[in-house]
Amino acid sequence: MTRVAVIGAGPSGLAQLRAFQSAAQKGAEIPEVVCFEKQADWGGLWNYTWRTGLDEYGEPVHGSMYRYLWSNGPKECLEFADYSFEEHFGKPIASYPPRAVLWDYIKGRVEKADVRKWVRFSTPVRMVKFDAETKKFTVTAHNRIEDRMYDEAFDYVVVASGHFSTPNVPYFEGVKTFNGRVLHAHDFRDAVEFKGKDILIVGRSYSAEDIGSQCWKYGAKSVTTSYRSKPMGFKWPKNFEERPLLTRLENRTAHFLDGSSKDVDALILCTGYQHHFPFLPDDLRLKTANRLWSDSLYKGVVYDRNPQLFYIGMQDQFYTFNMFDVQAWWARDVMMGRIELPPEAEQTAHFAKWRAREETLDGAEQMIWFQGDYVKELLAETDYPPFDIEATNQTFMEWEHHKAEDIMGFRNHAYRSLMTGTMSPKHHTPWLEALDDSMEAYLGG
Ligand SMILES: Cc1cc2nc3c(=O)[nH]c(=O)nc-3n(C[C@H](O)[C@H](O)[C@H](O)COP(=O)(O)OP(=O)(O)OC[C@H]3O[C@@H](n4cnc5c(N)ncnc54)[C@H](O)[C@@H]3O)c2cc1C
Ligand SMILES: NC(=O)c1ccc[n+]([C@@H]2O[C@H](COP(=O)([O-])OP(=O)(O)OC[C@H]3O[C@@H](n4cnc5c(N)ncnc54)[C@H](OP(=O)(O)O)[C@@H]3O)[C@@H](O)[C@H]2O)c1
Repeated sequence: MTRVAVIGAGPSGLAQLRAFQSAAQKGAEIPEVVCFEKQADWGGLWNYTWRTGLDEYGEPVHGSMYRYLWSNGPKECLEFADYSFEEHFGKPIASYPPRAVLWDYIKGRVEKADVRKWVRFSTPVRMVKFDAETKKFTVTAHNRIEDRMYDEAFDYVVVASGHFSTPNVPYFEGVKTFNGRVLHAHDFRDAVEFKGKDILIVGRSYSAEDIGSQCWKYGAKSVTTSYRSKPMGFKWPKNFEERPLLTRLENRTAHFLDGSSKDVDALILCTGYQHHFPFLPDDLRLKTANRLWSDSLYKGVVYDRNPQLFYIGMQDQFYTFNMFDVQAWWARDVMMGRIELPPEAEQTAHFAKWRAREETLDGAEQMIWFQGDYVKELLAETDYPPFDIEATNQTFMEWEHHKAEDIMGFRNHAYRSLMTGTMSPKHHTPWLEALDDSMEAYLGG
């Protein structure tokens, strides 16, 4: 029997499990699917951990999410086309759910699909090797509960281990002797720690924006963000400012490229993440920056050096859950012989065309249309339930405008579901006043 290994049970890996289960539900004969998950539960980053550094087994902690994290985009843009929020919660809910609500939603679909039996929890993959003669992979996994390593053979491997977990940590002069707290966003867990403090954030992307906003919301004395390329440019509230790049630290004083300086209590590096696959040898390992058209992947999914190896969710992301779904459905169809890969020259030409367009993109709006077009192309080639990409992009545009209008208030808006057509209700409490991020608080009121 054909065997498929899926590495990771986050939204991408779970999309792959659901894709196979959906084919089986429609009567197809499917391969045996084994999913290896290093954590004790599924949901990937959405499965919050209080731990930082190493976990209970000495493994690097995967989690980068933190308390009080709410969705940073409208949930309508990530909704599964085969499992709506309304189906899961039994009623329409507001548009920017906190983490616990999204985790519950992710779990609901795979519980309904009954695929937990395919997952081996607390089992990190240590190594994957490919034998060019037998055309089989050997996957070495480590059962941490029994502390037992073993090898198994597979015909296909799907890497769904995420890429927002291994921090990118630049060096700043004087940081070794800085008297305050220094951490990367990956280790940030609770904004309350910074109440009454002057904090400095390096970075200008989503982590910088959200961690800065959170710290401000939970009572930081001041928030200063420092950008390398250009400022975020939002209308920030009082005690929240943007400055050019940090050049050096001296005791508690941060110096910036424009010659200005400020005394700060903490430095939070929101400087992004690395694609990191310590379990893959050179011939199988994806090497790419965090970009919309990743290197070395045909259709953003098939590894160009081995057509039996797939990567899900490796792009930078505006689209998330439903993009992972479309990728997983598409990869499944290649593995099941429903989609035939074209000759290499055609694959190369396809890659070059998308890469050329990616390189012309200027700003978030163009990037959203680009990723939307990509999702649309894959969607047309599978039986994933069709959904309206133009309307999804339009919702993203509204989100962008709402952020530009009011960065501390954009989460108070509501949007129409693109899957059910139902208008979502506004949340009962403005985001700035909603300090309790529990599912009960969000759904109640
Ligand atoms: C702080 C933060 C906030 C975010 N907020 C949002 C948001 O609001 N909305 C949104 O749509 N997206 C958000 N994202 C984007 C996020 O990347 C996706 O939502 C989603 O979690 C990606 O799913 P994934 O399955 O590809 O990766 P992950 O969620 O990272 O899951 C990967 C899984 O692989 C497992 N794994 C890793 N290595 C191994 C191994 N060697 N062996 C076995 N298992 C392994 C991990 O334990 C994990 O369970 C956020 C990301 C971050 C970092
Ligand atoms: N739900 C939420 O609210 C939430 C919160 C946090 C994160 N997220 C998600 O998490 C993912 C990762 O976001 P991210 O912001 O961590 O990473 P990211 O989008 O990759 O951004 C990395 C940032 O680090 C900066 N940077 C990198 N090296 C630097 C250096 N040497 N000096 C100065 N700046 C440097 C980059 O600057 P340049 O732009 O100048 O290159 C960029 O601003 C995204 O998908 C995001 O949506 C969501």
